[in-house]
Amino acid sequence: MAKVKTLYVCGDCGHETSGWLGRCPSCGAWNSFRAEEETKPVNAGTRTGSWLMAGEGTELVDLSGVSARPEEKEKTGIPELDRVLGGGLVKGSLLLLGGDPGIGKSTLALSILGHNHKGEILYVSGEESPAQISMRAARLGFQDRGIPLLASTRLSSIEKVLTEGRPRIAVIDSIQTVYSDEIGSAPGSVAQVREAGMAFLRLAKALDITIILTGHVTKEGSIAGPRVLEHMVDTVLYFEGEKDSPLRILRSVKNRFAATDEIGIFEMTGRGLISVEEATGLFLDGKPENVPGSAVSAVLEGSRPLLVEIQALTVKSNYGSPIRMSQGLDRSRLIMLMAAAEKKTGIDLSAMDAYVNVTGGMKIKETSVDLAVLAALLSSVRDEPAAADAVIVGEVGLTGEIRSVARMSESLEEAFRAGWTRFIVPASAQAKLRRFEKNKDVKVYYVSELNEAFDLIFSKEERP
Ligand code: TYD
Ligand code: MG
Repeated sequence: MAKVKTLYVCGDCGHETSGWLGRCPSCGAWNSFRAEEETKPVNAGTRTGSWLMAGEGTELVDLSGVSARPEEKEKTGIPELDRVLGGGLVKGSLLLLGGDPGIGKSTLALSILGHNHKGEILYVSGEESPAQISMRAARLGFQDRGIPLLASTRLSSIEKVLTEGRPRIAVIDSIQTVYSDEIGSAPGSVAQVREAGMAFLRLAKALDITIILTGHVTKEGSIAGPRVLEHMVDTVLYFEGEKDSPLRILRSVKNRFAATDEIGIFEMTGRGLISVEEATGLFLDGKPENVPGSAVSAVLEGSRPLLVEIQALTVKSNYGSPIRMSQGLDRSRLIMLMAAAEKKTGIDLSAMDAYVNVTGGMKIKETSVDLAVLAALLSSVRDEPAAADAVIVGEVGLTGEIRSVARMSESLEEAFRAGWTRFIVPASAQAKLRRFEKNKDVKVYYVSELNEAFDLIFSKEERP
């Protein structure tokens, strides 16, 4: 009997090694490796992520002779989803919808079908019973849309139904429950998820079916995460949000048919996910008034300016090396900003633990919030509110200089429309903001370095 070889596979990204590792060298995840029997993939494409069955093809194709129809995007009828997709769904494409359990993947997937009930559709579920799905459909107002449901987790059965029924749009909820009889390893393993992903890729391309796969982001390594599939699908969308907030952000991290810079904003209500188009001040909901440790800033998400609240808490540290924790912000950026502030202003943060949080579950990559992060931190240290009625925008450089960020006037215009009239911004943006300043009631304060900014932010006289 042939010896079964054991491989160690990262449940996050699918990286394979011959021995166990504590940290994945490919994606950096900790504790994500676990043993899987080495299985021969059913076809060669599985390993490479190619949709070609056996990597076949020896004839050359003249590209100019290939009739390429422009990718037509079909609106889903869900405005925020269409925004993220750059217009809508592309026929015959494979889409991965990832996110934490309970965040709303099944709800969104079912809504897509409910809104497109005119075409042939199919909902495949291996997670919930028909009764549960029917209840969800009723909550979403789709009880009489006649959505066909297939309760199955077996790849060969799903393939058969798709091939025979040829729906226009199919949802597979979730990819981690689908298993192939031809693969030895357990359902949910990297090998199984890959094999199923490949099968759906081939079906999407061969039969021109738009297939939406949902995938849970997994915390421990027992089930393969959706990242294993990222390279093979056409579009990858991830849901973000906090458990106790109804706001959900849909972010595109890969899209073969459109740019990936737009986000979609939804609110989870009793009747499903509602698109939120007017979102400028949304993330400030519940912001405490005039308390230390909070500052308001503006970011651009795609074409949309958003106001965000940065909260900071500093407490005396009980450890040799103080804690630096951030949520929604890059931790190394936070450490760098704190170092710049210490050096420039002489404030000693070395004996303090610092926690920084972006409220509403937003994840911010932009540097436009730098100054607001430091304002919130310093406000907590001093136990004094920081310019509570002003929007603070600006990148902080290593020498403590405040730098301008892209498309500032757009962000400020939007904030002004949402009712904000006072702004603390980089001096270098002055030329760009001349027109904005002409707005009645607007007061713009220009700062060029940290000490000057903090003097203004904590000024007792004319508080901006
Ligand atoms: P679900 O779509 O099942 O999440 P996922 O598929 O990502 O695991 O959403 C589950 C949560 O959403 C659950 O806590 C209930 C809530 N929810 C609502 O608040 N309103 C609704 O109309 C629906 C359908 C779900
Ligand atoms: Mg679900």
